[in-house]
Amino acid sequence: MNHAEPVDSNGIGDESETRIPKRNISFGIGRQPAPKWCDDNEVRTAFFDAFSLFLPEGERFFIRSVHAYADNVTDPRLREDIKAFSAQEAYHTREHEAYNRAIQDEGLPLADVYGRIRKLLATVKGKLECLSVTVGLEHLTACLGYITLKYPEILADSDPRYRELWTWHALEEIEHKAVAFEVFQVASAKLPRWQAYFLRCGAMLTATHYIARMQLELALELLQVRGYATSWKTKVALLWVMLGTPGYYRRIIWYYLQFLKPNFFPAAGAESAYAQPWRDYFNERAMKPQDDHA
Ligand SMILES: [Fe+2]
Ligand SMILES: [Fe+2]
Repeated sequence: MNHAEPVDSNGIGDESETRIPKRNISFGIGRQPAPKWCDDNEVRTAFFDAFSLFLPEGERFFIRSVHAYADNVTDPRLREDIKAFSAQEAYHTREHEAYNRAIQDEGLPLADVYGRIRKLLATVKGKLECLSVTVGLEHLTACLGYITLKYPEILADSDPRYRELWTWHALEEIEHKAVAFEVFQVASAKLPRWQAYFLRCGAMLTATHYIARMQLELALELLQVRGYATSWKTKVALLWVMLGTPGYYRRIIWYYLQFLKPNFFPAAGAESAYAQPWRDYFNERAMKPQDDHA
């Protein structure tokens, strides 16, 4: 596809003019899940699946938190970005809900899991605190997205539908990574700079704690449901996936820490070169007829 051409009705957005394209893509994972889809390895699969379980409630929280300040935003470009951000997150939610329903069929009590995640997120009180935690989580998802695009070998031997879904999600997290941050700048404009800084850095710690805790807990729960022993060996294997090989959390550390700079802004950076081929690929993918969105 010529990158300058607009995306048609399947893709919904006008990609030529939009920094944050809306790509309505279905991956069909809900209809045909693959067991041990990641490298034929149950621990790696559980690591990603646990993150998927977090995402629908997490992304609804992001959308709500950003929209709570939508009326304070006067810049027309940022107002458009908020709409595009919400559309991208809503499509992610739909696809991860389908993905998670397939996990439910394996015996995981999904309603209970979603309820626990909602309860955890409900411990964040206040509009600005919710937005701050969203900013932290969006930075974290952008870091993870960057690593996914930079090291495609991590998913190279995985089921292609899951690889596509995670790559699409990674790309779009990078594309909209500045939106919540910019809304936070508007929302915190009247605070002293030091206070806004400590608010977002403190919220980042909360966000990191939530993600790490949910990912560990849910991955172990999934392994148990799937009939694997959750012995100390399994726990070490899971920590190794996070911190050793492929080591998502080890690999993001430098990018993650950039957030602590007082003048940090999530501008487009080194990831653009990794993102561009995938932008072209998924723009084209969005133009093709989609399966139903089950
Ligand atoms: Fe997302
Ligand atoms: Fe996001």
